[in-house]
Amino acid sequence: MEEDANATSKEDAFMKRFKYYKSNKPKPSLEEVISVEKHCDDKITGCPPLDITDDPRTDLLGLRSLKEWQLYSFKGHPGLLFIKNPFTDSGQRYWIRKCLEEYPRKPNRLNIDIESNLQDWWAECFRNNTCDKQLLKKLRWTTLGYHHNWDTKVYSEDNRTPFPNDLAELSDVFAKYLNYKHFRAEAAIVNYYHMNSTLSAHTDHSEVNLEAPLFSFSFGQSAIFMIGGKDKSVEPSAILINSGDVVIMSKEARLCYHAVPKILPSTDSPWEKPEICKMNDMNIDISNLKYLTEPEKIISVMKQNVDNQEWDRFRNYIQESRINMNVRQVLNEKQSSLQ
Ligand code: OGA
Ligand code: MN
Repeated sequence: MEEDANATSKEDAFMKRFKYYKSNKPKPSLEEVISVEKHCDDKITGCPPLDITDDPRTDLLGLRSLKEWQLYSFKGHPGLLFIKNPFTDSGQRYWIRKCLEEYPRKPNRLNIDIESNLQDWWAECFRNNTCDKQLLKKLRWTTLGYHHNWDTKVYSEDNRTPFPNDLAELSDVFAKYLNYKHFRAEAAIVNYYHMNSTLSAHTDHSEVNLEAPLFSFSFGQSAIFMIGGKDKSVEPSAILINSGDVVIMSKEARLCYHAVPKILPSTDSPWEKPEICKMNDMNIDISNLKYLTEPEKIISVMKQNVDNQEWDRFRNYIQESRINMNVRQVLNEKQSSLQ
């Protein structure tokens, strides 16, 4: 990820819009923000893939049946795709919990590692049954697989740990749905946003393979996502992202500038829906798995999540935060390492 370090004196179109949406005083108008709920027919088109065959893995991974998914493309942004929340309500709980309780554990890397190298950030936040709110707020990112190097932007073989099987499996379902037959999830950044957080303009270009799509899964509070062109003089669009929405940056959009200038309170909380209780009597198919070796672990977490008290700590967090899992393939199809 590249921070906007060398902003020119003559302000570019991207920065101008970024500042506009970031502002609290005055508050920006959301009129121009593209939302799939708002039927912006001049800007977006529904584009369901031809011949969708259902994927037996969807139930287990907390996804709705592929036939129910709504895929959109954007008229001004070829290669940019958007799937309106394809997650079930229990699926939302599952992934939110994973991003908080499990992914920030070692050997994964955290932004707070430089000051305190914690084995288990979430457990540490709730040690002795109290809540360390300060520590809770400090986590801004966790990296998985090939760890993103924030200084050099270069991935390396000696900075790589196993990629979570469940997230690899989830990404594979999306890749298959979009007809990417050889996609492999090899690196991810999990971003944690508070209500006043932003993510500045950048392109993601560290991966060797820039042909593979990038999958971005968001949960919790909503966000304005901006995307422009290959340089910052291109006028960007602003898109509303709600909990469960999936953004795919593929083809021409893969190397475009993008940013998150604002987090907005969500109008809906799918992770609070009563549907969550249905999990107990579901008949879950565990066939056709490619990466997951212990599907019963997922089912067990999903069942624990039905208990509202068990879910309390995660609820409190997500009520005022946004989580984004940003998944990439690093290597080329025939490569198995960076050597
Ligand atoms: C990133 C990114 C966007 C988002 O992690 O590289 O662009 O929606 N995230 O949080
Ligand atoms: Mn990015």
